[in-house]
Amino acid sequence: MKSAILFSLLAAATGFTRPSSHPTPTRSTPLNMVSTTKTTPHDIVRVDLADGRDYPIYIGSSFTDEETSSMLRRHVGGKRVLIITNDRIAPMYLEKYTNLMSGDGLRVDTVVLPDGEENKTFECMSMILDKALELGLDRKSTFVALGGGVIGDMVGFASAIYQRGVNFIQIPTTVMAMVDSSVGGKTGVNHPLGKNMIGAFHQPQCVFIDTTVLDTLPDRELKSGLSEVVKYGLIRDAPFFEWQEANMDKLLQRDAEATRYAIKRSCENKAEVVAADEKEAGVRATLNLGHTFGHAIENGSGYGTWLHGEGVSIGTAMAATMSEKMGWIDSSLTKRIYDIFEKADLPVKLPKGSPMTSQTFNKLMSLDKKVADGQLRLILLRGDLGNCEFTGDFDVDALQATIDEFVKETSA
Ligand SMILES: NC(=O)c1ccc[n+]([C@@H]2O[C@H](COP(=O)([O-])OP(=O)(O)OC[C@H]3O[C@@H](n4cnc5c(N)ncnc54)[C@H](O)[C@@H]3O)[C@@H](O)[C@H]2O)c1
Ligand SMILES: [Zn+2]
Repeated sequence: MKSAILFSLLAAATGFTRPSSHPTPTRSTPLNMVSTTKTTPHDIVRVDLADGRDYPIYIGSSFTDEETSSMLRRHVGGKRVLIITNDRIAPMYLEKYTNLMSGDGLRVDTVVLPDGEENKTFECMSMILDKALELGLDRKSTFVALGGGVIGDMVGFASAIYQRGVNFIQIPTTVMAMVDSSVGGKTGVNHPLGKNMIGAFHQPQCVFIDTTVLDTLPDRELKSGLSEVVKYGLIRDAPFFEWQEANMDKLLQRDAEATRYAIKRSCENKAEVVAADEKEAGVRATLNLGHTFGHAIENGSGYGTWLHGEGVSIGTAMAATMSEKMGWIDSSLTKRIYDIFEKADLPVKLPKGSPMTSQTFNKLMSLDKKVADGQLRLILLRGDLGNCEFTGDFDVDALQATIDEFVKETSA
């Protein structure tokens, strides 16, 4: 089934400036609508938004306590701070950040939630609201998310709705949160019927990224975050993808300079897209490459079976396979995509025994937030590396053939 393209968003046609040369870890690329200031020893990427809501992303690996303290306190409006983390991160980092934010007239309280994607629920998020009310926190209070994407999304949502909105700060502690979820103001919780189905747009006051916290992050979590890094290269930044092809082993070995560069470059890409389309009226949807398939896999396999980034890597392999079936990309590009995920030790197929069936895919994908008027819309790759299209007009046979191909592996 083919007809006129409903909603075409070739990245090349968005008017963004694309980096013209191959980036190196030391290069600070001037991007349209994103200002990146190289102030040794840390980087600052700005997210430019209307109405004075623009905010900095601080990225570094050698912040002194004084720097951390002053950078964070600078973004607190009132006198009360509520730091929210989970029971896995709390023993490692909560005391440090509580101490660094306390003093100077600031009172800091804390909430420790249970760890895990299965706890990214409305009920768990309500514990933040309960505590804030018990403490008598007013509208000038600041919430601080100390953790990965799960904590960041829940704290952001609580901040969006507590007394109709309070300030919040993101201190991401996973690669996933540093390169993606802490930036851009998408907040929310899961619902039994679908992932991230309840939420709000609410931008933070700042994002503070100290990459040294990644020292304690398990390898599997680190790799999961890399799938979002790959995404930026595929949808809009071919030189970044090429840099990743040459440097993926360094990222896996946790090379400090390569890690910091990958985070900075990812934040620049995310900031630029968010500045252009904060509420996802268009180009921002392209950040969901592989996610419609991926969310179905995460949900259909049971939350906790796959990490988010693992669902996304399989989902991106599916999007690439489908794009190739439609003749939108060459098989050589599909191969490069499979190769980079394999280099990153990320999955590109469903394992034997996976509960995913064709029916599960179809049912769960129809619940996707990008469905408009009953029409499924997908992000597909089209043309040369670095270009994609967000469209509701795709070949449904290619979609079904892709699902069938991936599902077949589970019983092969
Ligand atoms: N809002 C957005 O734009 C956006 C974008 C991408 C992903 N997400 C969401 O992010 C979530 C996934 O985030 P995630 O991958 O960070 O998962 P996560 O928050 O569950 O963190 C992964 C695990 O690592 C632990 N952990 C975190 N930091 C650690 C550290 N420094 N040392 C040791 N352990 C640490 C956590 O406690 C958890 O067990 C998903 O719910 C996804 O929907 C949101
Ligand atoms: Zn994602």
